[in-house]
Amino acid sequence: MFVRRIAVVGTGYVGLTTGACLASLGHDVVCADVDAAKVDRLRRGEIDILEPGLAELVAEGIAAGRLSFVLGASAAVRHTEQGPEVVFLCVPTPMGVGGVADLSIVESVLEEVRTALPAGCVVVNKSTVPVGTAERTSELLDRADVAVVSNPEFLREGSAVSDFLNPDRIVVGGSSQDAAERVAALYSRLGAPTVLTDAPSAELVKYAANCFLAMKLSYVNAVAELCDRLGANITDVTEGMGYDKRIGQAFLQPGPGWGGSCLPKDTSAMLQLADAADFEFRLIRATIDTNTRQRQRMVEKVRLAVTGRRGGSLSRKRIALFGLTFKAGTDDLRDSPALAVAALLRQAGAELVGYDPALRPDNPHRDLAAITLVDDPYVAAKDAEAVVILTEWPEFRSLDWAHLAEVAARPTVIDTRNLLDPAVARRGGFEWIGLGKNQPA
Ligand SMILES: NC(=O)c1ccc[n+]([C@@H]2O[C@H](COP(=O)([O-])OP(=O)(O)OC[C@H]3O[C@@H](n4cnc5c(N)ncnc54)[C@H](O)[C@@H]3O)[C@@H](O)[C@H]2O)c1
Repeated sequence: MFVRRIAVVGTGYVGLTTGACLASLGHDVVCADVDAAKVDRLRRGEIDILEPGLAELVAEGIAAGRLSFVLGASAAVRHTEQGPEVVFLCVPTPMGVGGVADLSIVESVLEEVRTALPAGCVVVNKSTVPVGTAERTSELLDRADVAVVSNPEFLREGSAVSDFLNPDRIVVGGSSQDAAERVAALYSRLGAPTVLTDAPSAELVKYAANCFLAMKLSYVNAVAELCDRLGANITDVTEGMGYDKRIGQAFLQPGPGWGGSCLPKDTSAMLQLADAADFEFRLIRATIDTNTRQRQRMVEKVRLAVTGRRGGSLSRKRIALFGLTFKAGTDDLRDSPALAVAALLRQAGAELVGYDPALRPDNPHRDLAAITLVDDPYVAAKDAEAVVILTEWPEFRSLDWAHLAEVAARPTVIDTRNLLDPAVARRGGFEWIGLGKNQPA
């Protein structure tokens, strides 16, 4: 097998996974970050994100001498005498003013490495970037001897390593066929279908895919609302839909709204892309609006359950929140729908006590400030007027619901993930309220 010298810039969910996985495939990888403390921890093999299998791969890579960590992108490019053959950019592209993707970090990295890149190397955009970024990257580099390729990443937090090593597809786009093929070849051992295309198409694949997923979720949340109003059962409806191979069962579970570090910023960026191309993408607008409404709808469910009437006051009502991360299996709180619902409950005057298996009570995240975080679900539920399940942690299913009913002031659970077996909750003494289960808010 050929071995490539690879530099990865950014050691977050995408960068660290990319670096560790490429090292496990036999390549020589150096990873760079601006966070000096993080680089020090990584050198010792300590990782600060919750990703199954990642710590082991990092440790193996370090032990095999195939994975190292340096401070700053330019140090990564200067790490070996010959320099890297491929440089992956895996830095944040957050939502900027007006919803556009903020490319300032990408641009500052390019400025940092521009002159140090060896001739013949390929710069790969793995960050999610708007259409046209590969072209802009080439302009900023102003290096005819360096190719630029778009290779969007599709991994999911919570299963990043397994997604990276078992991808549904690899997408690589660029104006240099040779450079695109060289990047695609890095993944050849994975045996995934590969789409080789131009850079704008590769860039658009990522946004089109994420917006489609967001649309699917907004759609199913709207169908769940209809189920509540029409007396239908969303679980049976989606099961019946999902057997259709054109639809599939995945991403058909209703919830408190979609969130996380990708879908909100990518849907906004897609709207801006369309706007700039003079196209009114109404489907995406409706997808976002439906999501905003979904969060409010969860609050109305809690309000009705706790006060017995629409418009009842939640002022000083103690509510226990089970799950605060944006989904199960991760400790990531970025744009978590659970936190959005929590903020709305707080605005309505509720007193919030939270429990999440991935969070310690001293977590400094600023959006947790209005929530009393505890490390025991039974303490969280004590004297609560309602328990609200916001993240689909499977361990909530095996809690002692009879004991929770004893400690709560009112044994009512609003299950925004339809996670529990209602019979188990009811046997424990709880009133169970789900989504799309003929229980209108
Ligand atoms: N998280 C996901 O599930 C996911 C999935 C697919 C694509 N993406 C995209 O990948 C990109 C990275 O996302 P992420 O979740 O890995 O981000 P992250 O915030 O977890 O990690 C980014 C890392 O880059 C570092 N960094 C910032 N500026 C830097 C600089 N100038 N030089 C070196 N390092 C720098 C940060 O310190 C951090 O460690 C984004 O564009 C995102 O949209 C994310």
